[in-house]
Amino acid sequence: MSKQREHWGTKLGFIMATAGSAIGLGSLWRFPYLTGENGGGAFVLLYVLFTLMIGIPIFISELIVGRSSQQSAIKAFMKLAPKSNHWHLLGWLNILTALFILSYYSVVAGWTVNYALMSLTQFTQGKTPDEIRSIFDILYVSADINIFWHFIFMLLTAGIVFGGVRKGIEYWSEILTPALLIILVGLFIFATTLPGFKQACYFTLYPDFSKLTATGILEALGMSLFTLSIGIGAILTYGSYMQSKSDIPKTGFIIGAVTAGVSLFGALIIFPITFTFGFAPEEGTGLVFKTLPVLFTQLPGTLIISTVFFILFIFTALTSSISILEVIVANLIEILNWTRKKAVIVSSIVAFLLGIPTALAGSGLLFGNWKKMYGKDFFTTLDYVCGSWLMPLGGLFIAIFVGFVMKRARVKEEFLKGTTMNRFLNVWLFLIRWLVPIAVFIIILEKSNIININNIVQQIIRQEI
Ligand code: PHE
Repeated sequence: MSKQREHWGTKLGFIMATAGSAIGLGSLWRFPYLTGENGGGAFVLLYVLFTLMIGIPIFISELIVGRSSQQSAIKAFMKLAPKSNHWHLLGWLNILTALFILSYYSVVAGWTVNYALMSLTQFTQGKTPDEIRSIFDILYVSADINIFWHFIFMLLTAGIVFGGVRKGIEYWSEILTPALLIILVGLFIFATTLPGFKQACYFTLYPDFSKLTATGILEALGMSLFTLSIGIGAILTYGSYMQSKSDIPKTGFIIGAVTAGVSLFGALIIFPITFTFGFAPEEGTGLVFKTLPVLFTQLPGTLIISTVFFILFIFTALTSSISILEVIVANLIEILNWTRKKAVIVSSIVAFLLGIPTALAGSGLLFGNWKKMYGKDFFTTLDYVCGSWLMPLGGLFIAIFVGFVMKRARVKEEFLKGTTMNRFLNVWLFLIRWLVPIAVFIIILEKSNIININNIVQQIIRQEI
């Protein structure tokens, strides 16, 4: 197959698509609630630090593998490590992770479509805060509604990816990513006018290390991987559509900064509202869906604010979900020689079907005894397996691949090609070879309960006393 590989039309288009992939439900839904649960400032500071020291280096590595091979994950690993029989398995791990994440990401994103529509129909009118909050519980157990919105969101995602790199992903990202940033700035300005803004700034930006647990430190690291879309080959695939003149390290820094910035914006939009109305910051996963609609009712222009907010969520989820689907599609096109149309249809159907148990998790219609057996419902189990196992493993292996397996000369050449940031080469090499694998390895050990950092820290403190 000597078909020419499609490339991004412009550098800006590439940046928008990659930023769109990174900025998503992770920054605007997961980050604020985890910040709330982990005590605020210190967690945020570590998240930023990890993004700089670990996230961005892995991000750069994925771009290097993608651009240098001009292939998606499976073929890329085969091409860059021709003597190894095993590295292509990392590509398969990427596809599996992408399928799993897409399946539940689409269900959560479906909720955002549902809330946008409910906002338009003014669902909060005449309801007490408790009634409004309980609507999420109703949605969560409504099997048919969940499946419907999951289907609609999958259809939107498939439609964009079907359009291909330039006409699909790049075109839509160039519209949706700036729109998202503009809406965010608008909401942020609105948030600054709230009485709780000052308290929210203090909570989000002042690092009080006494509130930080060792597990919180590791969660900040995991958060950084999730928000940067690392560990499933999405950035690798986008890198394979890069022009050879593009600056890889600079792209890494820009995307890292923008993503961390948006996560901060997310927190600084949500917490002022939380503090203004006296809610607890540690509201948990329901923070956005349960609390914000209640708060919107107390603000002027409920319909507009609420609708705009949830449309923002749809945009941000869509530019991420297309990058997840593209991982699967691009690999299938390459390894099975399929057309894009066939690859999109087959992988969307599989992801849709895989998402059904998640969509039904609340209703208990499928796997009714799942929670009793595994302690978490199907959706939460899948999120746990992907976020705590598959993504960190993917990140760990890509760091090892670039740090130790790929030819050093090729890695250096790819880093330096088109960049003005040559002086960072050795620092980056050090981070990717040592700091990144060790840190990610520690997360995996902690998550698997093989070590318990909380206990170790306690023991050290006790010994010192
Ligand atoms: N970064 C996306 C978010 O924050 C999620 C994502 C993970 C996208 C992995 C692509 C790959 O929502």
